[in-house]
Amino acid sequence: MRKVVFGGNWKMHGTWKQTEEYLQHFVNCPLPVNSEIILFVPFPYLSLMQKTLSGTQIRIGAQNMHSEDKGAFTGEVSADMLVDMGCTHVLIGHSERRSLFFEKGPFLNSKVKKALTKGLTPMYCIGETLAERESDKTVSVLQSQIREGLEGLSQDDIAKMYFAYEPVWAIGTGVNASEEDARSGIAVVREAIASMSSSSVSQSVPIVYGGSVKTGNIASYMAHKEVDGGLVGGASLKAEDFYLLIQAGMQGR
Ligand code: PGA
Repeated sequence: MRKVVFGGNWKMHGTWKQTEEYLQHFVNCPLPVNSEIILFVPFPYLSLMQKTLSGTQIRIGAQNMHSEDKGAFTGEVSADMLVDMGCTHVLIGHSERRSLFFEKGPFLNSKVKKALTKGLTPMYCIGETLAERESDKTVSVLQSQIREGLEGLSQDDIAKMYFAYEPVWAIGTGVNASEEDARSGIAVVREAIASMSSSSVSQSVPIVYGGSVKTGNIASYMAHKEVDGGLVGGASLKAEDFYLLIQAGMQGR
């Protein structure tokens, strides 16, 4: 049985006060025991997360990291720094990092490797743009993103990773992918992972769907056994909403 994972990706949202209120609400919610919940929050709130969430079932995630241990990289954060702040997970290759910050395959691959070396679980994000989908390139784009991200990794390392299939056209647009798009995209990703490792490794790693996931649609995605949860942006920004979304998702199982 694969893990069920719900990630809340706050992106560049929130204040200290809102984070405090969020956590106060969230830590008191009875979360489903058979799922993993990760909050990917902005760096400045990691210390608050660490203080409030220790001993709870909620995991602390970062939205990005650099591949180097240290050095003259103004504005960047290392894997060791994230570990210091209690992070267990890190997003790598989110489409906003790829498109707005021009992060490319080899750099993402070096980040994945560094995260694994430091004991962080990378949630590696992949997904096609609308133009790529419309020109029938979805499969080849997903295959090449997986190939680039996993290049040079051992099977043991790949087995430690999480994946998020997020069609770029569905992120933050309110246009969520159909269940079939999500299911078939994840199937392609799983097959691509198998080609870089083995079928047993690819069957064991969680692959979640992301892109305009809401309380009203998560259950229909998760009704498909290939979909191991969700990476949620906008609908994770309010504790009440995210909690309801998690409950709805678990009902879809
Ligand atoms: P969204 O974002 O849920 O707001 O579409 C998802 C993501 O970017 O991970």
